[in-house]
Amino acid sequence: MPRVTKRDALKSLPRQRLVRLAHQFSIRLEPRARKHEIVDELAGSRVLSIPRILASLDHDERKKIEVRLGRPLVHASDVLTHADVHAAELRETQTDAHKKKWGQYFTSAAIATFMASLLDIPETSHLRVLDPGAGTGILGLSLARRLLGRGQVKAVELFAIEQEGAAFERLAASFDVAMRDLGPRLRAHAIQADVLGLATPQLGTEPLPSFDLIISNPPYFKLPPAEDRGGDAPNIYARFMEVASSLLEPGGRMCFIIPRSYASGYYFKRFRRRFHRRMQLERVHLFESRSRAFVVDKVLQENIIVVYRKAGPESGGLVRISTSTTREASSPRASNSSQSRAKPCSRSPPARRTYA
Ligand SMILES: C[S@@+](CC[C@H](N)C(=O)[O-])C[C@H]1O[C@@H](n2cnc3c(N)ncnc32)[C@H](O)[C@@H]1O
Repeated sequence: MPRVTKRDALKSLPRQRLVRLAHQFSIRLEPRARKHEIVDELAGSRVLSIPRILASLDHDERKKIEVRLGRPLVHASDVLTHADVHAAELRETQTDAHKKKWGQYFTSAAIATFMASLLDIPETSHLRVLDPGAGTGILGLSLARRLLGRGQVKAVELFAIEQEGAAFERLAASFDVAMRDLGPRLRAHAIQADVLGLATPQLGTEPLPSFDLIISNPPYFKLPPAEDRGGDAPNIYARFMEVASSLLEPGGRMCFIIPRSYASGYYFKRFRRRFHRRMQLERVHLFESRSRAFVVDKVLQENIIVVYRKAGPESGGLVRISTSTTREASSPRASNSSQSRAKPCSRSPPARRTYA
């Protein structure tokens, strides 16, 4: 089914409604702008994404657009819409200090969808998925949506862990909507907890099960050496990777978007040794520009997306490497628009030099 475009949706709304939409998202319009000029202005705005437009429509407005288009108003991001809109609210309302304290920078729907596409799907009918540091839930939901689009997957049980209160509330709300949209094949659990505590479950708390797939955009900030929960990982994102790997089924896979700092240098040496003892790197995606992965949050990080499989260091295999150019970085594609090449890994010296 063809996707609805911003223009499709906007053109169907009366001028007055478009002006309200512009006002709601602080988009400035010329006072006497004609309807087609307002449509142009709104369609060209980065702030007003398609999920936001769809989420702001009421039932009658949706119906009207559907009649005009002659088809149901479905967008590839529909299941992600609520998570995306909630993230936008937090982005706008939380202070910089709060965002920094929690490492709270949200993934766009395009990157979430891309990350979900990188994981090979196990041939099992029931899959358990974990999203640690889930924010408003966009990553776990994008993976659940992809898995449930496959005939062979009968059911997905999604666990998402978020510690910060405002994000957790929105996570729970996103899951309610997603379970309604995707039906009984999805069971989604939003859990308010500290991911670092999952490595050593407390007496009296129910331990988590193990997972087939894990997807995460963890927080990034330095951990003080005296911080017990951090193991000896120098940065919280590395500790999230370790905790996640301990929760994977043998053969299970995890996809993380992280800074590339762990791949070299002294500080991460012990972490790399420990981690690569049981985790096999399968895939790396590089963003060629520094800031494009988080355009909205303006976080200057050298991000990479990695996929690891839980397996011993002796298991060998190929590492697939892809890149997206500056222009593609906000909605990368695994094959068409990115270069992909496979490289021998594990026993081969080049990969070891880089990652061991
Ligand atoms: C970089 S954000 C990513 C959010 C979401 N995964 C996404 O991709 O949009 C990291 C999230 O982890 C949460 N977080 C930070 N420390 C945490 C901890 N120790 N345990 C659980 N969640 C944590 C933050 O509140 C934040 O929502």
